[in-house]
Amino acid sequence: MADAKIIDGKAFAQGLRRRVADQVKILKEDHSLTPGLAVVLVGEDPASQIYVRSKNKMTVEAGMKSFEHRLPAETSQKELLTLIEGLNSDPDAHGILVQLPLPDQIDKQVVLAKIDPAKDVDGFHIFNAGKLATGSSGLVPCTPLGCLMIIKEQLGDDLSGKRALVIGRSNIVGKPMAALLLREHCTVTVAHSRTADLPGEAQRADILVAAVGRANMVKGDWVKEGAIVIDVGMNRSPPDAEGKSKLAGDVDFDEAREVAGAITPVPGGVGPMTIACLLQNTVTAACAQNELDVPEI
Ligand code: GUN
Repeated sequence: MADAKIIDGKAFAQGLRRRVADQVKILKEDHSLTPGLAVVLVGEDPASQIYVRSKNKMTVEAGMKSFEHRLPAETSQKELLTLIEGLNSDPDAHGILVQLPLPDQIDKQVVLAKIDPAKDVDGFHIFNAGKLATGSSGLVPCTPLGCLMIIKEQLGDDLSGKRALVIGRSNIVGKPMAALLLREHCTVTVAHSRTADLPGEAQRADILVAAVGRANMVKGDWVKEGAIVIDVGMNRSPPDAEGKSKLAGDVDFDEAREVAGAITPVPGGVGPMTIACLLQNTVTAACAQNELDVPEI
């Protein structure tokens, strides 16, 4: 079997960001509307700081307004909720994202529930999760949305009847990914740490999405020949002697590429799609709040 096609998520995300920038240009010119995204970061988690910097940069590059709110690690839940209330009623902030994880004194569920569902560009509010679960359209979590775009780019728009396995049942990736694939008429299985025969489940899957957070867990002989393999894992190895750590996916890439039809690498696969989808969700939210259709490009 020939090597799998290596999916270039970076290029795909670049294309999507360009499309978003074109949509923003039309909204500005034709409707005097500049979509705006507010990002809230509490504390100094190093990975979160990198994400937030990059979200800010790409928001501005797409022609949108970016509002950054950096709060100290000791911020109380009440203070954070007050900030969110202000953003909920700010007409220039069409999207609100509270970067996770949050410090221990803050209850994540209470905070996410406070965000106006119409501005919930992460798609984490229970109202949007419920909409997705019941098959109606709301704001969809960015990483699964990016995965679905990649899958459709490879397999075409009609995914009816495909067998899909999602490994992982998080609220951020696994559950919304399964709901999206079900909405596309796939036969969906969700596997997790208690699944009895994970290799057997994987071997039946035409679409395999791995989102568990365990480096190189999915082996080559778990993969069905010709399957599309989407690796959401971002596992950092402990630093080596020079203090450098490497990023590894949930899939053993070297093995799986021998069997799969197409596969996303780590890094450079799913990762870049997440922010691109966040920008798209911000445009979607801005249009909905102004009773406009998203411009077709
Ligand atoms: N932390 C890591 N990924 C994400 C994300 O997609 N959204 C938010 N809000 N926090 C995160």
